[in-house]
Amino acid sequence: MKIFLDTASIVEIKKGLAYGIIDGVTTNPSLVAKEGREFLPLVREITALLPGPVSIEVTASDPEEMIAQAETYAAIAANVVIKVPINLEGLQVVKALSGRGIKTNVTLIFSPSQALLAAKAGATYVSPFVGRVDDISGDGMALVEDIALIYDNYDIATEIIVASVRHPLHFVEAARIGADVATIPFATLAQLLHHPLTDAGMERFLKDWEKVKH
Ligand code: G3P
Repeated sequence: MKIFLDTASIVEIKKGLAYGIIDGVTTNPSLVAKEGREFLPLVREITALLPGPVSIEVTASDPEEMIAQAETYAAIAANVVIKVPINLEGLQVVKALSGRGIKTNVTLIFSPSQALLAAKAGATYVSPFVGRVDDISGDGMALVEDIALIYDNYDIATEIIVASVRHPLHFVEAARIGADVATIPFATLAQLLHHPLTDAGMERFLKDWEKVKH
């Protein structure tokens, strides 16, 4: 499973890349707003940090305007993937962009039918938001299972990015289902490694090491 970082923070991306486990980056308007920086210079800086895909979201509602935004962002670097919201206009944009060889990540996916239509329009990736489904007492990972089953039924090449990941179980379940990608917040990275027995084991080893002449 590929791991993307769900952040627009240069500091977090640099740290994640140094750990050697980050294959790409996803952003959204909320994550970009948190950085308090001018948008296009930030996108240039992020895309130059890694060769892997970097999702940048369009924010217009008119298809022609979305396509114009997408072309501007895609011209910044070869690793830009255009994030497009799932709706009828979004499908039209995905179709147009895929015809121009521009990769897309269809976002705000909350149902298998949305995922199937996004794939038919030519999406490179779909992003089901598992945490937000759980937030309203749904089963986010069941959504991912359904999409994976449907994509398998028809040999659909669109990759599934498990998004809105909130904790390690989401990550592990994504891998069990065989999702192509999990995109995770930086804070979740450390949670994935944390284990009390590892901490206790380290503590004991270091204490015993003090008794050794060296
Ligand atoms: O980037 C999209 C998604 O991962 C957002 O997550 O935590 O805001 O639901 P969250």
